Amino acid sequence: MHRRGFLAAGLATVLVSQRATAQMKMDNMPGMDMGAAPQGAAVLPEGEALRDLSRLANEADTPGLFKAKLTAESTTARFAEGLDTPILGYNGTSPGPLIEAVEGDRVEITFANRIADEASTIHWHGMPVPADQDGNPMDPVAAGTDRTYSFDLPEGSAGSYWYHPHPHGKTAEQVYRGLAGAFVVKPKADPIPAAYGDTVLVFTDLRLAADGTLPDSTMTDLMNGRVGDHVLVNGQKNPVLTVPFGTKRRFRFYNATNARFLRLSFDGAPMTIIGTDGGLLEAPVAADDILLSPAERLELIVSFEKPGTATLSTLDYDRGWMGAGRPADAGLALFTVNVSETPAEPAPPLPDRLRPIAQFGAPAVSRRFVFTETMTMNATGMEMGFLINGAAFDIKRVDVVAKAGQVELWEIVNKTDMDHPFHVHGTQFQVVEHERGGEISKPAYRAWKDTVNVARGETVRLLLRQDRPGPRMYHCHILEHEQLGMMGIVDVQA
Ligand code: C2O
Ligand code: CU
Ligand code: CU
Repeated sequence: MHRRGFLAAGLATVLVSQRATAQMKMDNMPGMDMGAAPQGAAVLPEGEALRDLSRLANEADTPGLFKAKLTAESTTARFAEGLDTPILGYNGTSPGPLIEAVEGDRVEITFANRIADEASTIHWHGMPVPADQDGNPMDPVAAGTDRTYSFDLPEGSAGSYWYHPHPHGKTAEQVYRGLAGAFVVKPKADPIPAAYGDTVLVFTDLRLAADGTLPDSTMTDLMNGRVGDHVLVNGQKNPVLTVPFGTKRRFRFYNATNARFLRLSFDGAPMTIIGTDGGLLEAPVAADDILLSPAERLELIVSFEKPGTATLSTLDYDRGWMGAGRPADAGLALFTVNVSETPAEPAPPLPDRLRPIAQFGAPAVSRRFVFTETMTMNATGMEMGFLINGAAFDIKRVDVVAKAGQVELWEIVNKTDMDHPFHVHGTQFQVVEHERGGEISKPAYRAWKDTVNVARGETVRLLLRQDRPGPRMYHCHILEHEQLGMMGIVDVQA
């Protein structure tokens, strides 16, 4: 039997109860009839003013040093009226506080793990930090203990990074329970006019039970990645920002969901991409819509040219779904901008050139990583596996040995029925090309990235170089897939 057929047949029996749950959720879908909310459904208020993310205050008084404390602990959030939701927060908030530092800074952040009975770590996603400061699963911070992460932000490292837990076997859960935050590294001299502002929008995905709690993940969640019922922006559902017409605004979009693919467009407001995960592009690129797979970031300039309403909403994107209950992808309003009749103050134009991006030389090594999925029956039931080169993650196994400073070509081959956003720790890479059905396509621009979507049936080739020695993780950033084995370790040797 074809594997796809086997999967479908094997799942049919197990998924009956999940299908029923998914069906119930469809009935409870908000936005259909707000007047009479179906009984038991949690209704999230929409249309509140967009709140700024809280900021992590710098406690150092030495210039060039960023010093602070991040405490992970249980707290409650009020998503729906009258319901307290137990979540995990950094310093009491979810998303965690926005960290903003400058190229050249030294960072010393003490992490206090106050999550009951669970180890955690803080991983600095995308950042050029030493391997032993990067919050790997091999370096857990036990419950009730503290550890200080310290690293220097090199010149040229300005970009839109983030931070989240990475403990062995618990990453997916700790992230959907609320632990993730943005870490922006600013350049010393910014080519983007300051008049455009700099607004960080962190997208997270919430599933709320009728009693306000976060339900445990189901079999469907483990297979597809956990997709929630409400996409939140900085913790709010469809918040509103008011701007004068003619405003150009700089946004940093973060996909901090466990598993939701976001294809987005701003109706009536042209978008221009100016940056990716690892900072600015060479030149601005106009975009009608954008695809942000889990863990990816984009920096954009949006022009609000005419008075009225501009809505950021989702478009359809088929990322491959197993079993029943594929969530509605399209037509969700995530964020609303009211463009007032008042004209904006004139602002300088966006420069044509943003910064140079160096090209890699010829690779010294080529490697191939093949994604497959498996399902096995055992005594306790069925187990889904997501594999790289035929193997599931083993925390004690080094999969690849690399040499610091050497350019490598990585070929990521997706032989599964789902898209997988591929991420490598410790460095930024450049995508060379995508290949699907024998057709090769080049990316629309050269860019620094740490996460790239590898669509089903696709091969992505990228160039990268690890400059710092030590073990680094590479994995699918659908966090449930990472947990089910789609991760490996590259040991970088000096
Ligand atoms: Cu966002 Cu292994 O990381
Ligand atoms: Cu990472
Ligand atoms: Cu995956």
